[in-house]
Amino acid sequence: MSSEPHYHNADLKFSDADIPSGRIAWRSPSNIALVKYWGKKPVQIPQNPSISFTLSKSYSETEVAYSPAVSETLEMEFYFDGQRNPAFEEKTASFFAGLSGIFPFVNQLKFVVHSKNTFPHSAGIASSASGMSVLAMILCDMERQLFGTLQKEDDFRRKVSYVARLGSGSACRSVYGGLIIWGETDGVTGTSDYYGFPVNEGIHEVFTDYQDTILLVDAGEKKVSSRVGHGLMNGNPFAAERFRQARANLTDLLSALHTGDTETFIRITESEALTLHAMMMTSQPYFLLMKPNTLQIIERIFAFREKTSLPVSFSLDAGPNVHMLYPAAIKTEIRQFVKNELLPLLSPLGFIVDEVGKGPEKIL
Ligand code: PMV
Repeated sequence: MSSEPHYHNADLKFSDADIPSGRIAWRSPSNIALVKYWGKKPVQIPQNPSISFTLSKSYSETEVAYSPAVSETLEMEFYFDGQRNPAFEEKTASFFAGLSGIFPFVNQLKFVVHSKNTFPHSAGIASSASGMSVLAMILCDMERQLFGTLQKEDDFRRKVSYVARLGSGSACRSVYGGLIIWGETDGVTGTSDYYGFPVNEGIHEVFTDYQDTILLVDAGEKKVSSRVGHGLMNGNPFAAERFRQARANLTDLLSALHTGDTETFIRITESEALTLHAMMMTSQPYFLLMKPNTLQIIERIFAFREKTSLPVSFSLDAGPNVHMLYPAAIKTEIRQFVKNELLPLLSPLGFIVDEVGKGPEKIL
C-alpha cells in the first residue's frame, strides 16, 4: 500500500510586508479513460484504479494574476472566455480555500483568473480534468517560484497530481503525458490512490501515437454531474462486481498495451464505455446519457470495423459524445469514414481530431 504523502506545510506563507504580485499561465489537457473511474470513497479515493490517454488538443488554458488580498482572506474573480463566470468562480474559490492547509499563502492573495477551453465544457469531455489540473499546475508552480520548493521535477509533478485529484479525480491523470494510471494497481509499482502515475515504459509502438476523434453528438450541458454519478455507485446493486471487473480489465489492458494487442484493447475499451453507461442506467435515480446518434455512431463503427478489419474502437465519457480511438497509421481511412458516414450524425460543432499528448505546458 502506498501511503498518503503529507503536503500540509504551515511555512508556505508570506510575511505581511512581503506579499507578492505576479502572473502565471499554464495549458493542461483533458484525458480519455480507457478503464473508467466511476465510484469513490472520501476523500476522492477511487473505488478502482483507472488508466487514461492524456490528450493533446483538448485543453484548458488558464492565467492567474495574484496580488495581496485586501481583506486577508482569499479573494477571487474568475473569467471564462472573457466573461465573469460566477459558477466557476465559486467552484474555484472553494477549491482554493479547501487547499489552505497545503498552500497557506492562498489566504493572503487576491486571484484574477482567466480561463478558456479548446472544446465545449460540461459536455462529457472531461473539462474538469483539464480545468482542475491546470489550476493545480499553477498553484504548485507558484509555490516553486515563490518559496523555492519542489525543485525536483518528480516531486513537483506528484504534488500537482495530488492537488489536482482533490479538485477532480480524473484531473490527477492529466498531469503527465501518455498513459497514466490512477489508483493502486496489483503488479504496478509506483501506482497510488493519491496521485497519477505514468506507465509509458515498454508500451508497444502502435499505442504511442493513438488518435482520438471526438464526435460531438450533443454539446449541451451534462445531465448529471460526475459528483452525483460517483455518489450513485454507493447504492448501485452491481457496484462490487463492477469494481472487480475494472481491476481485471486494467491488468488485461496493460498487457495488451505492452504486446500491441489491438483486439484486446478494442474489447476492453468498448466494454468499459458501455459498463460506465450501464452503471448509470442501473442507478437510482437512473440516467440515460446516450442519444440516438450515439448509438448510430457506435453501430457504424462496428460495421466499419467488420468491413475493413481496421483497429478502430470507441469510448464514452459520462455523456453522449463518442471518442473514436485508432492508431495514427489509419488516419486517412478514418478521415474518409468520418466524412462519408458520421458527419450527418453530429451536432453543428462537428468533431475534434485529437491524439495522445505530452501533458501540461507552461505558457507564462
Ligand atoms: O474526475 P471526475 O469526478 O469528473 O470523474 C470522471 C469520470 C469519467 O470521466 C466518467 C471516467 C474517468 O475515469 O475519467
